[in-house]
Amino acid sequence: MTTPYAGKTALIIGGTHGIGLETARLLLTRGAKVLLTGRRAEPVTTAAHELSAAGFPSSSFTAIQSDITSLPAIRDLIPRVESSFGAGTSIDLLFVNAGYAVFEPTTAVTEEIFDRTFNTNTRGAFFVTQTLLPYIRPGGAIVFTTSVSIHGGFPGLSVYSASKAAVHSFAQTLAAELARYPDGKEGPGIRVNVVSPGYVDTPTMGTSRVTEEEIVEHKKYGAASTPMGRIAQPEEVARAVAFLGFEATFTSGEEVLVDGGSRLLKTMPA
Ligand SMILES: NC(=O)c1ccc[n+]([C@@H]2O[C@H](COP(=O)([O-])OP(=O)(O)OC[C@H]3O[C@@H](n4cnc5c(N)ncnc54)[C@H](OP(=O)(O)O)[C@@H]3O)[C@@H](O)[C@H]2O)c1
Repeated sequence: MTTPYAGKTALIIGGTHGIGLETARLLLTRGAKVLLTGRRAEPVTTAAHELSAAGFPSSSFTAIQSDITSLPAIRDLIPRVESSFGAGTSIDLLFVNAGYAVFEPTTAVTEEIFDRTFNTNTRGAFFVTQTLLPYIRPGGAIVFTTSVSIHGGFPGLSVYSASKAAVHSFAQTLAAELARYPDGKEGPGIRVNVVSPGYVDTPTMGTSRVTEEEIVEHKKYGAASTPMGRIAQPEEVARAVAFLGFEATFTSGEEVLVDGGSRLLKTMPA
């Protein structure tokens, strides 16, 4: 097995299932060390068990509970980076993937839904990045997960789409600010990009407060409405994250869509 990322480190915010966990698996397979986080304790434990059962040595990954809606919890990530990767070791890839979405028509959105969506997807993504920036290696990379829904009108996703569109905007500004590092002095910068999935086959499909039956319907609808006629597997998004994180060394401020053609293509119903 080739391990092109041996000696590299990756911190995955929101890595306990779905796209984040598949990205952890891919990066570990390629030899990186991974620190992954999640909001709830139980999926953190399950993710660690799954990675151990897949044969990854416990020295290669750490899974911890950390809620990015809390600034003290975000600051507590700093010592965890050092204890996981070794004192003085920087982060090669920060993958900010945590997300929260509730399907509600605009007329039904409550203050609580609005606040939690923006506190997770936008405020959390911003402050986790700001806090960890000094620990990212010059020449390293940041990847945010946004969504194809930032590009159009998706009924029921007004708040979610806006919260992710803001992240897309942050990423472009940050890419410009960090293109040279630090502050325009000599040395490589930090590349900043986003990956925007369409429908992805994860346990939650990126949504909360839905029943199992609704998830099944959502998957069917996703496959029918995607030009390629199916939804994505999470590893297809993980490969795009690895590309942006480690391979795309002259790409910054960009978006990679992993959406089966949803943004640009229109197909006739079968
Ligand atoms: N699946 C899709 O169809 C799809 C489509 C477009 C975009 N996306 C985006 O892709 C990303 C991953 O989606 P997914 O389907 O893989 O989701 P997922 O399986 O629900 O995983 C989300 C991860 O984020 C964590 N998280 C949520 N709130 C958090 C918080 N406040 N602090 C720290 N971690 C938190 C979750 O932990 P807990 O479970 O403990 O909360 C989990 O580890 C999300 O940003 C989502 O918006 C998904």
